[in-house]
Amino acid sequence: MPIPLKPAEVSGQPPVEPDEVRKLTASADAAARRKQNLGGVKKIIGIHSGKGGVGKTFVTVNIAYALADRGHSVGIIDGDVDCPNIPAFLKAGYTLYVDEHKRFKPVTHRGVKIISMGFTKEDATEPFLLRGPAKHRVAIDFLTNTNWGDLDVLIIDLPPGTSDVPMSYLEFGELSGIVYVTTPQKEAVIDTKKSISMGKTFAMHPIGLIENMSGGVFGAGKGQLLAFETGIPFLGSIPLSEAIFEKNEAGEIAFLDEKLAAVVAPILDGIEKLQNQKK
Ligand SMILES: Nc1ncnc2c1ncn2[C@@H]1O[C@H](COP(=O)(O)OP(=O)(O)OP(=O)(O)O)[C@@H](O)[C@H]1O
Ligand SMILES: [Mg+2]
Repeated sequence: MPIPLKPAEVSGQPPVEPDEVRKLTASADAAARRKQNLGGVKKIIGIHSGKGGVGKTFVTVNIAYALADRGHSVGIIDGDVDCPNIPAFLKAGYTLYVDEHKRFKPVTHRGVKIISMGFTKEDATEPFLLRGPAKHRVAIDFLTNTNWGDLDVLIIDLPPGTSDVPMSYLEFGELSGIVYVTTPQKEAVIDTKKSISMGKTFAMHPIGLIENMSGGVFGAGKGQLLAFETGIPFLGSIPLSEAIFEKNEAGEIAFLDEKLAAVVAPILDGIEKLQNQKK
């Protein structure tokens, strides 16, 4: 059930400027920092599709807050370095700070720790102009140079595509599994299939696939077929819904109702099962 909004936990240090993010990311040794900053993180999970706009962020926040409601400590990395969308779901504005060790300090929203490039700019419409290597550094630094503390699950909302940032996370993220999201349109199915193949290339464990925005003009069923074809578990469908859309448009998280929560439940169970296994 929804928990009241908490203000961001801030260090009192000056907020991080986008340029500063790049400087911080260019320095130190990621392996040592990984040990230091990810040592308390039990599992890292990715949410992916090769296709943009299929609802990855919507699914990410639903999984994250549902896990938090089950009593887990949860973090989210907004993996979209140049077009971050997580802040649009949080209503309140947040600012990224660094701690005394020059590590990023995630903001805390309803008990979930979140980091996003969106927290470095006040104007959400201002572009980030970053070439591939800079995006890679930001991606790895969000992972390894953030003071995550102890977390049961860290969820990475991966950007669309099969290169660049998603590749950085699949290659260096030590992910325990990926949840794939598609919509029923053929382009989305084709691009999601690419991301599933990409996951196989990087030996990722496929937790399962969700068909989002199912029904209505988009039709339904191609997601299930894709899951069958690729041999990964089909987790269920989330309908194309005016209520979900309107809630998200209002800058709030559209939490799944009880019936739809059934789609997320196997993911939560799967993640909990992964937690009992070794990294
Ligand atoms: N089931 C749904 N019904 C109606 N609207 C939805 C549904 N799922 C997501 N949306 C809306 O679709 C839009 C895209 O969703 P979202 O931002 O989660 O996609 P995304 O895959 O993360 O996009 P990107 O590739 O840009 O990161 C948002 O406006 C969201 O509110
Ligand atoms: Mg997104």
